[in-house]
Amino acid sequence: MSDLAIEVRDLTKKFNLPGRHQTFTAVDHINFSVKRGEVFGFLGANGAGKSTTIRMLCGLLQPTSGTATVGGFDINTQTELLKKNIGYMSQRFSLYDDLTVEQNIRFYGGIYGLHNHRLQERMEWVLAMADLKGREKSLTRTLSGGWKQRLALGCAILHEPQIVFLDEPTGGVDPISRRNFWELINDLSSQGITVLVTTHFLDEAEYCNDIILINAGRLIANGSPVELKTEYITNPILEVRPAANIVEAMEVVRTQPWALETSVFGTGLHVMVADAKEGERAIRLVLGAQGIGVEHIERISPSLEDVFLYLLEKDTANAA
Ligand SMILES: Nc1ncnc2c1ncn2[C@@H]1O[C@H](COP(=O)(O)OP(=O)(O)O)[C@@H](O)[C@H]1O
Ligand SMILES: [Mg+2]
Repeated sequence: MSDLAIEVRDLTKKFNLPGRHQTFTAVDHINFSVKRGEVFGFLGANGAGKSTTIRMLCGLLQPTSGTATVGGFDINTQTELLKKNIGYMSQRFSLYDDLTVEQNIRFYGGIYGLHNHRLQERMEWVLAMADLKGREKSLTRTLSGGWKQRLALGCAILHEPQIVFLDEPTGGVDPISRRNFWELINDLSSQGITVLVTTHFLDEAEYCNDIILINAGRLIANGSPVELKTEYITNPILEVRPAANIVEAMEVVRTQPWALETSVFGTGLHVMVADAKEGERAIRLVLGAQGIGVEHIERISPSLEDVFLYLLEKDTANAA
């Protein structure tokens, strides 16, 4: 058996634009592979092509060209087998609001062909995993976002698939639920289950073993967090805490020709420069001249967000 859970080759999806003799390329010849048992992060802004890719990998949408295998099944020719062997949690969670917790679990259990003892066993498992014991009879509509999210995960993996696709599972839930949810994802992975998860929260990439970043349907980066941080950015990054108004400081710094990239992170700025010493001197000079001043400045290693923002900006500039 291959140690790859998913292999994607030249996968492309074009949509016909209604009323026009044109197509729109939502996914543009992407290639990547996912190892068994890893948490694989699929990052990109809204509209980048994440859901379209996932739907093709789950056998729900026919590719325009290219191919992929998921758990050894070909997404073009073995969609029925494929669907039985994976779990998929869609962006909208697809729970029935008017059903109770238990009814939703039974409904999905039915879809996956679970009955009697086995269904009962898996129901217990989901209720425990989602922390929903005692709420079996609650209408799903009355649950908080975090509970709904965990119930949706439970329903998606009732049949114990070895590969699970989660499409923006942390969208629209509070930060604590987000963090708890990532713990559940880690639990699955430690049981050997492969999890491919999409998100537009760049900070969530740190929880993944491997990541791809897509922009406008094109793959623009692929690697582990450490690889991404060391391979894609070679220029120094300075963290600058201005003594006064950060918004003004941002405006001043980012128009300087030596500031290759400037972004706001919390109460500081991250400024990419060609040379750390020269950069520091220039920043002190220009912020001093504007009466803003510098409270603290130091060279830092880039965060994943630095890498992503840099790559996204570069790709968008290249495409224009
Ligand atoms: N059925 C469709 N017909 C036409 N365009 C679509 C369709 N589905 C998605 N798109 C477009 O494809 C692009 C990618 O969408 P999507 O995969 O949903 O992005 P993401 O999940 O990354 O937010 C978007 O511009 C979207 O409007
Ligand atoms: Mg989406």
